Amino acid sequence: MAQKIVAGNWKMNLSLSEGVKLVNGIESKIDSTDVRIIVFTPSLFAHPISQLNKKDTEVGVQNFNENEAGAFTGEISINQVKSVGVNIGLIGHSERRLYFNESHSVLKAKVDAAIGNGFEFIFCCGEPLDVREANQEFSYVKRQLDESLFHLTDAQIKGGTIAYEPVWAIGTGKTATTEQAEEMHKAIRTWIVEHYSEEIAETVSILYGGSCNPKNAEELFACPNVDGGLIGGASLNPEDFCAIINSF
Ligand code: PGA
Repeated sequence: MAQKIVAGNWKMNLSLSEGVKLVNGIESKIDSTDVRIIVFTPSLFAHPISQLNKKDTEVGVQNFNENEAGAFTGEISINQVKSVGVNIGLIGHSERRLYFNESHSVLKAKVDAAIGNGFEFIFCCGEPLDVREANQEFSYVKRQLDESLFHLTDAQIKGGTIAYEPVWAIGTGKTATTEQAEEMHKAIRTWIVEHYSEEIAETVSILYGGSCNPKNAEELFACPNVDGGLIGGASLNPEDFCAIINSF
């Protein structure tokens, strides 16, 4: 069975003290612990936030560099992240693809670097509005997965996590309908079956992201192929984030 996950993506928001307050708030409001909870903090905060040693909240980074080490000013390597006890990161968020020109091949290199270093990741995919309007969303998302993720072996992809985040729904207040989310999640699971097997496909968690909030989370999480959420805006306050987690 795929793991249930609700992850918060803080993006470039919050100061350290605000982040500490948020995580303390989350821990005090959670009722259910069978959902895996992760907060993706700015890299600088990953260590101090993880040092809070909260029982329910894991910490990850929003980005890392695909190279081992060297002259990459301003970047952070997987080994540096791991050296502070943080073992998970996002790959391929649409904002990284769009603003930092992360191509299919760069994202593939990040996937390989993560696999090679025993570093867990959530692979993000999703189509922009013009692609959906042209009814090309399935081929677009399939290409993102084919180019950067589906070269992995059975053993490497087993138990992994993919986040489907339609770009037109991110930070816009415009959520995908449950039909739109389920249809794409089901397609993603079917592609995993085609590339790997039914058994592997059942172990991969497929999260939905894009204006997920306490009002729509329950309906989205009730879809058979939605295993959780990657939450941006609504992860920045403990009430909303916990209401989303507790809606499972
Ligand atoms: P949002 O962001 O929930 O604010 O739409 C989701 C994300 O970008 O991960």
